[in-house]
Amino acid sequence: MIEWTRLGTRTGFKFQVRRARPADEPALARFFQHVTSEDLRFRFLTSLKQVGHDRLVAMTQVDDPQAEGFLAFEQDDGPIIAAGMLACDAKLVVGEVAISIDARYKNRGVGWELLGHITHRAREKGIRTLQSLENRSNSSAIELEKQFGFTAESYPGDAALVLVQKIL
Ligand SMILES: CC(C)(COP(=O)(O)OP(=O)(O)OC[C@H]1O[C@@H](n2cnc3c(N)ncnc32)[C@H](O)[C@@H]1OP(=O)(O)O)[C@@H](O)C(=O)NCCC(=O)NCCS
Repeated sequence: MIEWTRLGTRTGFKFQVRRARPADEPALARFFQHVTSEDLRFRFLTSLKQVGHDRLVAMTQVDDPQAEGFLAFEQDDGPIIAAGMLACDAKLVVGEVAISIDARYKNRGVGWELLGHITHRAREKGIRTLQSLENRSNSSAIELEKQFGFTAESYPGDAALVLVQKIL
């Protein structure tokens, strides 16, 4: 059975989230065509023309307790409007979160609520530290995460990156 979580943003926008599954791969590929090339670079920390099969598989598999993908929809049977990923270490102590939003749905509070949903899921799994690696120039994500209670510090070994993290 599909388990939906209904969320509402501070702007009044309503949407729902569920776990990703393998059958979502084509819809996820279509979703990424509506993510700006800069946002793709910020999400994957590398320049991509399109999101390839291996990455799509990683975001839609269901058997790995270390990795969970989340998809957001405005309507149950509509297109994906946002996608998130929680990837954890083997001991399920540290988790890494990453989010992308369809360009047409940015600045409505979807990123904030999806981050909240994934943070809640990380707590449920027993994750103690939630992290995200950001490009230093990705000020909108870094600011959102700071407002959300994450702290930001330089990432050792790569001056272009910032490590943001939150103790859960
Ligand atoms: C960063 C990103 C996820 C933000 O998504 P979004 O849906 O456009 O953002 P939101 O509308 O939720 O938030 C916009 C602003 O409102 C704030 N906000 C939203 N809801 C809020 C709430 N309920 N309470 C307080 N503040 C809130 C956010 O902190 C943010 O503030 P800012 O403008 O000062 O940065 C999006 O720009 C994106 O996809 N970026 C590229 C990919 C990326 O960077 N991924 C890494 C993130 S883990």
